[in-house]
Formats: sequence, C-alpha cells, structure tokens
Amino acid sequence: MPSLPIPEGLAREDVVLRRLRTRDAGPFAAAFREDPTLGVLIGADEDPTENGVRRFIARQPGLRARGEFLGLAVTDTSRRPFLGHVMLHTIAWRHKRAEVGYWLVPAARGHRVGHTAVSLLVDWAFATLELDRIEITTTPDNAPARALAHSLGFEQEGVMVSRNLERGRRVDVVLLARLRK
Ligand SMILES: CC(C)(COP(=O)(O)OP(=O)(O)OC[C@H]1O[C@@H](n2cnc3c(N)ncnc32)[C@H](O)[C@@H]1OP(=O)(O)O)[C@@H](O)C(=O)NCCC(=O)NCCS
Repeated sequence: MPSLPIPEGLAREDVVLRRLRTRDAGPFAAAFREDPTLGVLIGADEDPTENGVRRFIARQPGLRARGEFLGLAVTDTSRRPFLGHVMLHTIAWRHKRAEVGYWLVPAARGHRVGHTAVSLLVDWAFATLELDRIEITTTPDNAPARALAHSLGFEQEGVMVSRNLERGRRVDVVLLARLRK
C-alpha cells in the first residue's frame, strides 16, 4: 500500500492547500458550533471537540504513511487562516479508487473557494497517485455539495437507498464519480 505524500505548492486563485497544523484545531472545532448542521452534513457521528481535533491532527502522519487518509487545510496565500478541510479517504488501492470529502467554515462559503480547493486536490490526486476513479458521496438534500461535484465534472451514478445510519436515522446516499481522463 503506497504512502501518501503531502502535496507541495497546491495553490490557485488565492486558494492554498497545506497540511493541517495543531493551531487549526480551534477554528476547525468552532465551525461545527457556528453551523450546527455541519456535522450532520458530513456524516460525523458527533461534532468534534477542540481536543478531539488536536488528536485527529496528530494522527495525520501515521494515516498518510499507511496510505489511508490525506487531510489538508484550505487556506489563503498567507497560509494562516483555517478556511476548511478537504480530504482523500476510503482509499482502495487495489481498485485504484478513492473518495474526496470537503467542508468549509461558514464564512468561507459561496465564493468558489470550495470549487477551487476540491479541484486542486482532485487534479493532484489523478496526477500523482495510482488512481483511476475518484468518488464523492453526499445526501440527496445537500445541494451545495452536489453542485460542487457537478462543477468539477463528477457525474451522478445513482442513489443508494437507506445506505447509512447517521445519528440514529437511515439516510440515502448519492454517489458521484469522475474517471481518470
Ligand atoms: C459544499 C461546500 C464545500 C461548497 O463550497 P463553496 O465554496 O460554498 O461552493 P462554491 O462557491 O465553490 O460553488 C460550487 C458550486 O456549488 C454551487 N453552490 C454553492 N452554494 C450553493 C447553494 N447553497 N445551493 C446550491 N448550489 C450552491 C455553486 O453555484 C457552484 O456551482 P456552479 O459552478 O454550477 O455555479 C460548502 O457549501 C460547505 O462547506 N457546505 C457544508 C459542508 C458540506 O456539506 N460538505 C459536503 C459534505 S458531502
């Protein structure tokens, strides 16, 4: 199983992706307090605490070394503010496929930051990693997440009915995918 490098120089139109730093834990956890729907939208079992995020950030090198997960902070050219999180997860190296996930802090939404950040990650992943297929999953009612996926050329392949159990509720899951060109 290949390890995952930290991408260098991923930047476009004032949007920069960099590794998660310990000091991102505060704004990372605060986003879930500012937007109480965020944890539900990303399918988290519970909203993260600042300490929990610190532990999550500390686990990143091990997750990358094992080729399991790559989480990156979305920031701007100053590389300081934490604007959101993009990630490569559910990686099946044998099948040369992975999933991307994304969320922004509320104040950063609606300005194409999400489009640019996810496009940087997807382009880098296809260019650098042995992947033939990248998937996005979301819930049918998440219009922004679906629009972002479509804006990057992901195509909807179907709806998996009652697929996940999230916070005690069974939810349908939309599957979108993009193939290596
Ligand atoms: C999904 C999310 C990352 C989008 O980021 P963003 O920077 O606000 O989106 P962008 O401005 O880059 O817009 C991307 C596309 O989505 C559309 N979009 C953005 N917000 C939208 C909204 N509220 N309703 C419908 N479409 C929307 C844009 O019009 C654009 O489509 P277009 O290229 O056809 O015009 C952001 O809304 C978010 O963090 N949501 C909460 C977390 C979440 O749901 N994550 C996904 C879980 S699967």
